[in-house]
Amino acid sequence: MGAIDWAAARRQIILDPTVTMLNTGSFGPLPEPVFARATELRRRLAAGPTDFYVRQAPPLLWEARERTAAFLGTTAPRLVFTSNVSAAINLVASGLRLNAPGEILMSDHEYGAMIWCWERAAQRQGLTIRTFPLPTMTSDPAEIVASAARAMTPRTRALFFSHVLSPTGLVLPAKELCAEARRRGIASVVDGAHAPVYVPLNVSDVNADFYTGNLHKWLLAPSGAGFLAIGPGNEDRLQPLHVSWGYFADKYPISDSGQSVGPDARDAYGSTPRTRFLEFEGTRDICPWLAVPAAIDFQTALGFDNVRARIAELGAYTRKVIGDGVGLPLATPPALGGAMTAFELPPGPTAPELRKELWARRVEIPVIERPTRLLVRVSHHFYTTEAEIDRLAEVLREVL
Ligand SMILES: Cc1ncc(COP(=O)(O)O)c(C=O)c1O
Repeated sequence: MGAIDWAAARRQIILDPTVTMLNTGSFGPLPEPVFARATELRRRLAAGPTDFYVRQAPPLLWEARERTAAFLGTTAPRLVFTSNVSAAINLVASGLRLNAPGEILMSDHEYGAMIWCWERAAQRQGLTIRTFPLPTMTSDPAEIVASAARAMTPRTRALFFSHVLSPTGLVLPAKELCAEARRRGIASVVDGAHAPVYVPLNVSDVNADFYTGNLHKWLLAPSGAGFLAIGPGNEDRLQPLHVSWGYFADKYPISDSGQSVGPDARDAYGSTPRTRFLEFEGTRDICPWLAVPAAIDFQTALGFDNVRARIAELGAYTRKVIGDGVGLPLATPPALGGAMTAFELPPGPTAPELRKELWARRVEIPVIERPTRLLVRVSHHFYTTEAEIDRLAEVLREVL
């Protein structure tokens, strides 16, 4: 790791120097080359919208689809771009028909807005929602799998869980959880909002029926870049959220030569008929998707193993300074952690009060309200500095 100049890498990230930025977990900043690429594309779109949409974008979109699919461990015909993971989960929750009566099973640590997607889907389809308790401080993935498996019943129609938990950054054994679901004929839907880069993700290996994720967090792609990867055997299970020109793809000649192509062959739009069916929403700015290869290139140049090793080093430093130093109890087990480390906050100031005090000191960090406690969640990506973690310690001592 000695070969990487992390200070130089940091200088490439566009960050306000007056802010201690410890919240990549919510929104990633952009490296200069990614911002430059997205801006260049937007300039081309602004200068010649017809030429851009009709002639320039299709090959760029296909390239982005192939590059992103290869990075995630899937293939271009299985990769549907979305604006974010919320859009991807909405697509699945609204578009997937499940047999009623029955239940949708999820962990008790899911992201609020995603729970609402499933609540609405359940209500519409005459299903119920049930949660299973996650052992959040375990170092043994088998305990998590056992807890989920115990909760599965013959009535369970779908299993939904986050690959990386939002409140604490705990990494769930996604592959094993999906295997348990598959064994029982239960559809598996994974919220991989944080997973790309955070874990060495290979979507085919996880083998979910539907794997969704964000590229705007840890990959540092522009806001507006998320995805759904369709697992084998699930190609025809979804309906689009948005009906547009992809809807009757088979009724229109779609190749350059005017010939109809198969549902998974590259079409004239940088898609396949199947991905376009789910993805195309009419005229919209797809520059965030087209800039994803630049984001992949940026961290590829650093080396993803180096990035994750640096993240682990910063995680250990965070536990030392905030855990041992400030004395806050750890809420993320190191063995199953990653680029986010959460700590329990002592009783005292409320979450809104703490948020105000932290931001008054220019520290960008989420205070998370859990049923029995407040957590502070530190994001430490490769560009985070030890000085920023020291600053957090100083500020926490002041405000707590
Ligand atoms: C686990 C999880 N799911 C979903 C989301 C929603 O992400 P987005 O707003 O990009 O759709 C987040 C955002 O932090 C998250 O942590």
